[in-house]
Amino acid sequence: MDKKPLILIADDDAQALGVLEQIMTAHGYEVVTASEGVSAQQKVLERTPDLVILDNYMPGISGSEITRQIKNNPATQFVPVIMLTGFTETPDKVEAIESGADDFVNKPYKSVELTTRIKSLLKVKALHDELDSAESVIFALARAIEAKDNYTVGHTERVSQFALVVGYRLGLSTEEIDALRKGGILHDIGKIAIPDSILNKPGRLTPEEFDTIRTHPDRGEKICKPLNSVQSALKIVRHHHEKMDGSGYPDGLREDQIPVIARIMSIVDVYDALTTTRSYRAALSHDIAMSILEEEARKGWWDWEILEEFREVAGSHN
Ligand SMILES: [Fe+2]
Repeated sequence: MDKKPLILIADDDAQALGVLEQIMTAHGYEVVTASEGVSAQQKVLERTPDLVILDNYMPGISGSEITRQIKNNPATQFVPVIMLTGFTETPDKVEAIESGADDFVNKPYKSVELTTRIKSLLKVKALHDELDSAESVIFALARAIEAKDNYTVGHTERVSQFALVVGYRLGLSTEEIDALRKGGILHDIGKIAIPDSILNKPGRLTPEEFDTIRTHPDRGEKICKPLNSVQSALKIVRHHHEKMDGSGYPDGLREDQIPVIARIMSIVDVYDALTTTRSYRAALSHDIAMSILEEEARKGWWDWEILEEFREVAGSHN
């Protein structure tokens, strides 16, 4: 079953808003409304509508400003925006066009004109959503990196599985669980830019080589950023090497500054690294891996609560 497209309508004129809402509902769309700019902004972020209809003139934030924000945010940039404008206000219209709105409808509008434009914009949106199964391309890429890094075969799947079980047990939201599933696969995608000679080097890395390795979260984030469907996992890709005491990278975040999904991922990632064979040592047992993680938690690297939860999860697999 296809989901009803969700349309956000923002207009400070209550009567106009009511009429629009009726028209949209009658055409089978799900509707969410806002009577001024700030709540329109919020609802765009909360609900990620399939299409937005904005009155250009609203108290607070104008329709053009909201449009600019929608178009500048990677998570919403493909959401079509229809701007309702008056016939005569030319300078405002120029501003609206410059803001990146996809279409304009003059007030008073004919309902058939509006619904026809909505239909065609929703078609384009559906195509974009499908393109987002470029998502599948990026996941394939992540697995290709795993393959070139021969000692990590199966790493991303295991990390993904463990992380989402820990997330469930900690009572995280559906979105966070989804982020853990995707982040488990994607976290090291930035390694595509790291030379194999460094990735697979037996023995110690030089400080310069370490610096190169440490660029992978930032590179990974840049690779994933344009993709709508992996936005939830970006924080994992960027922050999976942060440590609770601020000694991690790339941003040296501390404690709660590190998103909980990234704190989970870092523990699971290290555990999997310890319990698999690396180019410089054999795989360690579960017990040894856990005692290393605990020692590191005592040093201030890991979140104890998460580590305790993880111990239960990993223990039941051994
Ligand atoms: Fe990593």
